[in-house]
Amino acid sequence: MCGIVGYTGTREAYPIIIKGLKRLEYRGYDSTGVALLNGKLNVYKKKGKVADLEEAVLGKNLHAHTGIGHTRWATHGEPSDRNAHPHQSAGGKIAMIHNGIIENYLQLKQDLSNKGYTFQSDTDTEVLLNFIEEIKKNNQCNLEEAVRIALKRVTGAYVILLLDEDDPGTIIAARKGSPLVIGIGKGEHFLGSDASPMLEYTKEVVYVNDYELAIVKPDELILKNLGNERVTPYIQKLDIELAAIEKGGYEHFMLKEIHEQPQTIYDCLRGRLDAMEGTITMSGIQQYAEQIVNANRIVMIACGTSWHAGLVAEYIFEELCRINVEVEYASEFRYRNPVVHKGDVIIAISQSGETADTLVAIEKAKEKGAIILGVVNVVGSSIARTSHGGAYTHAGPEIGVASTKAFTAQLAVLTMIALKIGYIKGTIEEERYRYLLKELQEIPEKVAWTLNHSDNIKALAEKYKDAHDFLYLGRGYNFPVALEGALKLKEISYIHAEGYPAAEMKHGPIALVDDKLPVVFVATKDAYHEKVVSNMQEIKARKGKVIAVITEGDESTKAICDDVMLVPEADEILAPMLSVVPLQLLAYYIGIARGCDVDKPRNLAKSVTVE
Ligand code: AGP
Ligand code: GLU
Repeated sequence: MCGIVGYTGTREAYPIIIKGLKRLEYRGYDSTGVALLNGKLNVYKKKGKVADLEEAVLGKNLHAHTGIGHTRWATHGEPSDRNAHPHQSAGGKIAMIHNGIIENYLQLKQDLSNKGYTFQSDTDTEVLLNFIEEIKKNNQCNLEEAVRIALKRVTGAYVILLLDEDDPGTIIAARKGSPLVIGIGKGEHFLGSDASPMLEYTKEVVYVNDYELAIVKPDELILKNLGNERVTPYIQKLDIELAAIEKGGYEHFMLKEIHEQPQTIYDCLRGRLDAMEGTITMSGIQQYAEQIVNANRIVMIACGTSWHAGLVAEYIFEELCRINVEVEYASEFRYRNPVVHKGDVIIAISQSGETADTLVAIEKAKEKGAIILGVVNVVGSSIARTSHGGAYTHAGPEIGVASTKAFTAQLAVLTMIALKIGYIKGTIEEERYRYLLKELQEIPEKVAWTLNHSDNIKALAEKYKDAHDFLYLGRGYNFPVALEGALKLKEISYIHAEGYPAAEMKHGPIALVDDKLPVVFVATKDAYHEKVVSNMQEIKARKGKVIAVITEGDESTKAICDDVMLVPEADEILAPMLSVVPLQLLAYYIGIARGCDVDKPRNLAKSVTVE
């Protein structure tokens, strides 16, 4: 993963790059660096976050109108000053940053070592850079040509940005598999892993495609394919505002994003769901409605939190559409030899739209003739562009590494798709369809209610913050919510947590229960409620602590629990959009109580653009 930024124009490059890197830190934050080209290259890099680099460069020469910057999530070589990017070529005249993995780097490294090259870092990046320099030297060509030749021999994924002392003012960039956006200004250009570094300067951007190479000068942008043919840049208008990527008075992005959910779910439903008319308008689904209705099965492909959204959707689709649904980890699906038939429907779920495993998995299924529908948050992202159709989640930029508002928006979109397909297929009765539409429209208000009744969660966090383990249990639609609650806690607080189907607990995990183990039940009123209450009793009988998300007014369940978190009543199909909210807050406040960096948890990155 990692974030990359570049600038060439008439302004000072350094402040633009630093500000951009701070916005991209969600992608990786173990080391940071910049290369500034002002006649000569000045490269500064440091282990740690962008703020650490800022401190380290105080008093240094930072003047330049062209530069590149990197915030890293290490894949090859530990986080350290010397492994930080940018790297400089052995000859010292070229600097490069890289997002991705060069898979055949060992072979290339061996070849270069045989030619006398030595390496300053353990990265795959430095190998590619020296390989490029070697080609430039041998072929007596310019950097652009050398990059093109090199990339034809490279396997793996990359976005690379290069500066060359011999070509001042120019940034050479190329992409395969990792994202690259170029912002177009007047006499200046901006480059970024996403559009956030350029938002205040321009709204006109070009999303570079795989196997394209960009030659970026202050007043010129040339795009070419690896065959050296010109490609016309397709300029798109951004519709993100700067305020959307700032904290807006909240202490952390994660808390802001949790609190945004009434609005983000509303935004997701807006213009699509009309409960009065009984319609759901989703053109990217409508186009494929016939194929979905006739599909023998639907395969949901995703990772992490998005995979949990897929699990909830499995229950919903099976109930409302009577279609067999499989939910696959993208990373497993891509390396199996999955049975995919022409016309199979694949739903790829991804917040970032850049998750490498998901992207490759859908490309594989696409090759076999499947119809790919993307449920994606980031507009213009790779998964969105690779999909045949689908629907955006419209949750706005999610910066906190732990996914929150993207999850509930995914559930809202997937529920709408299931309702639409079930209705066309005739597997939902008119009355139930109308009722669910109305209920779904009320979800933003109910999420707001949940947030307004969450004051006790901070105190709960204090009470349980020192636990070593947590168990999360739920049944039916709430089982994936239990998994999601456990994932949130692990990510944010580093406490070990497991999610299980409540009934499965008897088949093993119950051995963990003692008077110190907090067990979080997702126990809203639904068809399985009584069964869940029995599972609570089983925990109580073994002296475990029972904390539960329950439906407001459910006094009898409350009486059994040590502590409760409340959500309003909702149809069981829609309940996960509510029951997950207290669990997000619980994880957040426990993380805070333990002094963790909740927006940037250790070892993680927001967009996992490597395998
Ligand atoms: C969620 O909190 C995680 N950080 C992670 O599991 C995430 O959901 C996963 O990496 C998938 O990302 P995507 O939705 O951007 O594809
Ligand atoms: N593979 C490179 C490294 O380990 C880049 C990783 C990244 O994308 O941050 O340095």
